[in-house]
Amino acid sequence: MSQRTVALIFGGRSDEHEISIISAKAVAGQIDRAKYTVTAVYIDRAGRWHGGSCSTGVLDLDIAALLRSDSPESAGKRLDDLVSADADQRFDFNAFRQKSDVAFLALHGSYGEDGKIQGCLETLGLPYTGCGVTSSALAMDKALTKLCAVDAGVAVADSMTVLSTEYAGNPGKICDAVIARFSWPVFVKPASLGSSVGISKVHDAAELQPALDKACRLDSKVLVETAISGREIEVAVLGNNDPVASVPGEIIPGSEFYDFEDKYIRNSARLCIPAELPEGISEAVRESALKVFRALGCSGMSRVDFFIENGTNRIILNEINTIPGFTDISMYPMMMAASGVGFSEVVDRLLLLALENTSIIHKM
Ligand SMILES: Nc1ncnc2c1ncn2[C@@H]1O[C@H](COP(=O)(O)OP(=O)(O)O)[C@@H](O)[C@H]1O
Ligand SMILES: [Mg+2]
Repeated sequence: MSQRTVALIFGGRSDEHEISIISAKAVAGQIDRAKYTVTAVYIDRAGRWHGGSCSTGVLDLDIAALLRSDSPESAGKRLDDLVSADADQRFDFNAFRQKSDVAFLALHGSYGEDGKIQGCLETLGLPYTGCGVTSSALAMDKALTKLCAVDAGVAVADSMTVLSTEYAGNPGKICDAVIARFSWPVFVKPASLGSSVGISKVHDAAELQPALDKACRLDSKVLVETAISGREIEVAVLGNNDPVASVPGEIIPGSEFYDFEDKYIRNSARLCIPAELPEGISEAVRESALKVFRALGCSGMSRVDFFIENGTNRIILNEINTIPGFTDISMYPMMMAASGVGFSEVVDRLLLLALENTSIIHKM
């Protein structure tokens, strides 16, 4: 078989820009070079596309070490320098399309995980890894995800959707409606952000308005949700029409909940793979992950996150991530590895699934 060319796309216009570069670096190291030639494509924070020495230069930076260093802003400075040096170059989309056989999307968050880049690549006619336009968009919006899950018979936390414009028009009315409907604590969260940004655990009426103010500033849609007291269990799913679910893994937060600091600053959460669960619950949570994957019309991969409620053992969907963290210490690759599929095989399968998918069906 002749070698195929993979366009490895990373960076992007999201807050998870640097995390995406770290994921891309990990993926670049796992692509089978006997089968694939890799071309790096870097999307800078402003949305400009770069190839050649700029994109390889970004991949060659040790962003993870720069972020951990005494001056984390030096990571941003090094990226800016590479982008400035490339300012005169024009990214040629036709050449990019012609020389690529498949795109590996190592992007996270807005513009990477929400259907937008997927739509762009569909328009170019280039196969890409992971979920399609509709499933990506559904998974990005936590309110819409819940509608699909409930339709498939998977439980979710009771929630109320608030539009930020509606809240701005009459904050008191929204607060009264929340107080009348829920008992404390509740979670307030932007519908379409990640990394726990803008999320608050609200313990009483006094904390409600500041939490809604914050979330409504960040997103046009916000969820107020019953707080679930339970364990946080995740499952990795891989496949197109016949997906497989990994062994479940558990996140044990180091703070009151799995917040931004816990994820990226203090690294205080503990990961336990496989999660210690009774056999029946482990099987049921894997089955629920596959149900959610299918209900949203996902393809390629997703990490499906649940709560197992204390006392009742009820399996409750929290959210689904269509491009989860993708380094060798991220939950998705670790849960797949614990299920017998190593990191390089995951990467290989995702590329094959991308190529297979476009030849059979249009992605949702
Ligand atoms: N309804 C809830 N009940 C209990 N904990 C929650 C709830 N919603 C969110 N959390 C906590 O907040 C964290 C982040 O929320 P999540 O909805 O997963 O957003 P993100 O997309 O930012 O990861 C979760 O991992 C969990 O610790
Ligand atoms: Mg989450």
